[in-house]
Amino acid sequence: MKINLSNIKKAKKVLDRNDCVAIPTETVYGLAANAYSNSAIKKIYHLKKRPKYNPLIVHYYSIEDLEKDCIINDVFLKLYKKFSPGPITYILKLKKNSRISRLVTNNSTTLAVRFPKHKITKYLLKVLNYPLAAPSANISGKISAVSSKDILEDFGKKVKFILEGGKSSIGLESTIISLIKKPKILRLGGLDTSIINKVLNQNLKFNLSPSKVSTSGQMRLHYSPGLPLRLNIKKPYKDEAYIVLKKPKILKENFFYLSKSGNLKIAAKNLYSLLRKIKKSKFKLIAVDKIKNQGLGKTINDRLIRASKFNR
Ligand code: TXA
Ligand code: MG
Repeated sequence: MKINLSNIKKAKKVLDRNDCVAIPTETVYGLAANAYSNSAIKKIYHLKKRPKYNPLIVHYYSIEDLEKDCIINDVFLKLYKKFSPGPITYILKLKKNSRISRLVTNNSTTLAVRFPKHKITKYLLKVLNYPLAAPSANISGKISAVSSKDILEDFGKKVKFILEGGKSSIGLESTIISLIKKPKILRLGGLDTSIINKVLNQNLKFNLSPSKVSTSGQMRLHYSPGLPLRLNIKKPYKDEAYIVLKKPKILKENFFYLSKSGNLKIAAKNLYSLLRKIKKSKFKLIAVDKIKNQGLGKTINDRLIRASKFNR
């Protein structure tokens, strides 16, 4: 998609007056605002109905910009060179003189940072004088938005401007890695953790559901489609929307597939829009076939398991 300069200008104008703009990224759309402004950050929490204790990810254009706010280390540099810009978020230590609003971090001394790859948002970040705090652009606890249409559905006109960027190419949120002590994965996401393992030459530890809820992606009621969902189902009921990975030979009325060929990347890209589509259909229950637990299949399963906790 081409960069529309007049849209970039409009987005900058809204952000400069400390209002929120929905921005496209390769993972999911973000609800963005000036990370240095308390009043801007308050608007994000309010619009999303997000609990104040749940910190936000800050999006940067370059390492030079990042270094104004965070302390970087060798592991970070190694991963940055390999995977950024892209679907990975790093937890780093904040510098004492950082200008990041304390509302972004809920007063913590650490900050989640990401370098998005989507070229429209990269361009926007380049022309701004501040980084953008941006959680996924959905009502807290619900399914993330992967298109401008999804955002309109959730927020109507409450979001002052939506920067159009087409459908998110990955379709799942970023993988979160903490680099505060020993590297640790905090959220499965759009970057397969086995590839990170290879680069770091180690088997990373996971902390996907800590006792202290530090990552909202770890909360029970997250990624909820708003309908009860059953997993690993071979024989769905007739009145259940049935999600399968690959297009079946016989497509019954209640069957929905994530990818024609069973490709996990394509399935990931389609997952959230399919859940939204089913939510709007006549079906009130969802059953999902077993999805292979490898590569992005692991992230798909993570989101489906959390979604299945709905209504329990
Ligand atoms: O792909 C993505 O990461 C998208 C796009 C817009 O960048 N953003 C996203 O943001 O998914 P959000 O807010 O929906 O999820 C960010 C997660 C939250 O669960 C939050 O708890 C966690 O990151 N987080 C933020 N700061 C943290 C910190 N300092 N330590 C641990 N977790 C943190
Ligand atoms: Mg989110």
